[in-house]
Amino acid sequence: MSLAVTILAAGKGTRMRSSQPKVLHRLAGRPMVDHVVAAARLLSPQHISIVYGHGGTAVQQALPDADIHWAEQAEQLGTGHAVAQAMPLISQDKVLILYGDVPLIQADTLAQCLAQVDAQSICLITLDMAKPQGYGRIVRDTNGAIERIVEQKDASVDELAITEVNTGILACPREFLAATLPQLSSNNAQGEYYLTDVIALAVAQGLNVTNVQPANGWEVDGVNDRVQLARLERIYQRQQAEALMRDGASLADPARLDIRGKVSVGQDVSIDVNAVFEGDVSLGDRVVIGPNCVIRNATIGAGSHIKANSIIDGASVAEHCEIGPFGRLRPGARLACGAKIGNFVEIKKSLVGAGSKVNHLSYIGDAVIGTEVNIGAGTITCNYDGVNKFTTEIADDCFIGSNTCLVAPVKLERGVTTGAGSVITKDIGAAQLAVARAKQRNIDGWQRPAETAKKEGKS
Ligand code: UD1
Ligand code: CA
Repeated sequence: MSLAVTILAAGKGTRMRSSQPKVLHRLAGRPMVDHVVAAARLLSPQHISIVYGHGGTAVQQALPDADIHWAEQAEQLGTGHAVAQAMPLISQDKVLILYGDVPLIQADTLAQCLAQVDAQSICLITLDMAKPQGYGRIVRDTNGAIERIVEQKDASVDELAITEVNTGILACPREFLAATLPQLSSNNAQGEYYLTDVIALAVAQGLNVTNVQPANGWEVDGVNDRVQLARLERIYQRQQAEALMRDGASLADPARLDIRGKVSVGQDVSIDVNAVFEGDVSLGDRVVIGPNCVIRNATIGAGSHIKANSIIDGASVAEHCEIGPFGRLRPGARLACGAKIGNFVEIKKSLVGAGSKVNHLSYIGDAVIGTEVNIGAGTITCNYDGVNKFTTEIADDCFIGSNTCLVAPVKLERGVTTGAGSVITKDIGAAQLAVARAKQRNIDGWQRPAETAKKEGKS
């Protein structure tokens, strides 16, 4: 049977107290609704639609995926009405209904639910809750079969005592939904068209109504305010941390690690506290990450050591490199095997060759540095004239004296030495020493200035 997934995301989200639509608030760096779409995609549906309303096109803009279909619900008249808005778009056999503000739902749970759906069967995801307040309750008959769902506001005292709740997620045959949604009435405590009312109608038509329960309660937790969102963020991060540990990483504290993207690790990786990973990050075997590092879209080779307070973005680091403390690699930085980047060094769009060192207080931008080069403290590549960027080329075995300015475009051939404090504006030939600084003058008998007498009354 073909599958359509529809995601309800039209609600206002008043309790977020935000000008942004609720489903665009971020969990692990991505809009909540994006997590729901990702879970849906794992089921390989033939169709995905999102019902949007509040916040209008902002939700559409945040999810540019070309294959998502959009249904507008201009007025929020209830969950049944919301699903009805998507129905004209859907021609598949089964429909799975998800929620843009229930971001941690797992594809495994959804697959179990879908496995119980056929032309004659509906499946709900339900949960036993010690404190079911606020949720719709699952009413069962004397044989234990699901009979209907009653909303909290419509429930009798006896029904309120039921602890099995409706998570809202359900899957059913499209034909049934298409025929049944128009029969819903808003004659209830909230004056809404309840999706939940389709259950009683299904039972009346002789369909089977079954349920599955999620492996973890948090999968079906919804977000109504920022407190709940923060709680789910921690749960999500804990899952990520545990996955990393299972893959071979030691974490100084699994609660002080944030992954906003995907991290893959080799064996015996060690990560100290307060690491933030964003985008796609890959850490090779035995990589050590010190405290307070931010690493985004980067590959770190085996045995490399990223020391405290380093920031790496859009860079690739080969094996056995050392970075930091306080190192910064910007997009396009590439370190070859055994390269060393020390404190307060910024590298942008440059190659640092094997075994080369930039140990202290330097800016290297748009440079190609060969192997076994030593860049002295305070060296700057002057790569920008205010309009254009130029390249600095430094061949193998060069020794750049401290506080050298390399005014690009400039090329240093193999084995060059520069004197400390030089401003290099011309190319330098192989093995030459270049000194480009004012000559030192030593003046005999220098009298230091004497202190001038202070005027009275002034301090
Ligand atoms: C709903 C269920 C309830 C269940 C609970 C789980 C109904 C009638 N009730 O109640 O049984 O226990 O979820 O959280 O379905 N939405 C729209 N358009 C609308 C109304 C809602 O898109 O017109 C979306 C909301 O953005 C939200 C979701 O549907 O994501 C649920 O709506 P909400 O009003 O929170 O339903 P509940 O009253 O919590
Ligand atoms: Ca809700």
